[in-house]
Amino acid sequence: MRPVKNPSALRSRPVSSIRGTARAPGDKSISHRALILGAVSVGETIIEGLLEASDVAATAGALRCLGVDIERLDTARWRVGGVGVGGLAEPSQVLDLGNSGTGARLLMGLVASQAILTFFTGDASLSRRPMERVTDPLAEMGARVTSRSGGLLPLSIAGATDPVPITHRLKVPSAQVKSAILLAGLNTPGRTSVIETLPTRDHTETLLRHFGAEVLVEDDANERTISVTGYPELQAVPVKVPADPSSAAFAAVAALITDSSDITLTGVSVNPLRAGLYRTLREMGATIDFENERLASGEPVADLCIRSCALRGVSVPASRAPSMIDEYPVLAVAAACAHGTTVLEGLGELKHKESDRLSAIAGGLALCGVEIEIGDNRMMITGTGKPPRGQTKSSAPVETHGDHRIAMAFLTLGAGAANPIAVNSAKSIETSFPDFAGFMNRLGADITAAGQQKS
Ligand code: S3P
Repeated sequence: MRPVKNPSALRSRPVSSIRGTARAPGDKSISHRALILGAVSVGETIIEGLLEASDVAATAGALRCLGVDIERLDTARWRVGGVGVGGLAEPSQVLDLGNSGTGARLLMGLVASQAILTFFTGDASLSRRPMERVTDPLAEMGARVTSRSGGLLPLSIAGATDPVPITHRLKVPSAQVKSAILLAGLNTPGRTSVIETLPTRDHTETLLRHFGAEVLVEDDANERTISVTGYPELQAVPVKVPADPSSAAFAAVAALITDSSDITLTGVSVNPLRAGLYRTLREMGATIDFENERLASGEPVADLCIRSCALRGVSVPASRAPSMIDEYPVLAVAAACAHGTTVLEGLGELKHKESDRLSAIAGGLALCGVEIEIGDNRMMITGTGKPPRGQTKSSAPVETHGDHRIAMAFLTLGAGAANPIAVNSAKSIETSFPDFAGFMNRLGADITAAGQQKS
């Protein structure tokens, strides 16, 4: 076997079909929140199905520095010894959240209303991402924030001694910002509210209720106000984490873009505020059935049954963006394999993710021979309905910019393209889906270290 130059470079070869039944790993958003709410509840929370990936491990590590006892009992089964609302200890180390925007921003909220001093840092990608959207409202609640210029990490938060409740209108539709403020509201007297004009994922609200907090949601024609009442006695309760719809999306799209495919993805969260991709794929002509719909710790869950089919281009409105914000890379892959033009609007936030996803998607698709145009906030992808060319023998691998979703999306495209597709680095996949290649290969994909054959 030839030596592998860059062991983190992966290649995905075209395959005839994707078939079988599998369960994607635990939902990343819910895993962070289960650890955090377990940490500030009273008693021992047992979490089943926790995502075991570096983003969630970073949150667990940070909570341990804040005095929380967290133990792995078994595969995906974790115990959190809660310290109660207001019971966090001042950490003696800097909290390093690695690549995790959710971990960093939610924990900023958690510490902002407790009189402790906390230092936050992260990797190069996280240190480029905007934090003022979170730290500005937390400062209004009384926290003192010192950051690098531009509000960037590393930063410190001296939590408020006498926190004050606020009503904050979100400037960007962000569940991370909403959650940070609601978490700060837990150790704040009175009612802390967040107003959103485009609804964002509501896992914090659902889990807060699951732990016994009082959460009020008021909807009117144009906006939604979410309020939490301070000083609840959160009680430890078991949490079942559903499979992550954002991770399941790669297998779903792989099945749609390869012939004779038929898969079942079990126990996936089908929360409507996360299901925008599945709605869009159906509009593109996909057959996706939600079977055995049920609830897991308050979250709607189903088994997804997906078969290969011809996709057509569609227009996706900006208002849908929050419900599929992490799925644009894999939707772009589906669009590249569809017949006609897909127009995606309202993509401004994609520039502030783990990479600038707008240009990362454009660069990768162009390299694979797909017609793509991007504007400030939009993207237009035109497919012929035939497999896209993929990489030429002489072309460089797709540049992932250290972004897990870009890496996984292009490896997914490799399954349905005319030629293999390699990505320059897939190390970032550790952040959300460490077994991605194994999971996809068990369903029939052919993803190997670049330069190796599937054994
Ligand atoms: C997340 C919210 C989204 C999403 C991120 C996870 C969450 O970010 O992109 O991967 O768990 O709240 P924004 O809230 O910043 O849009």
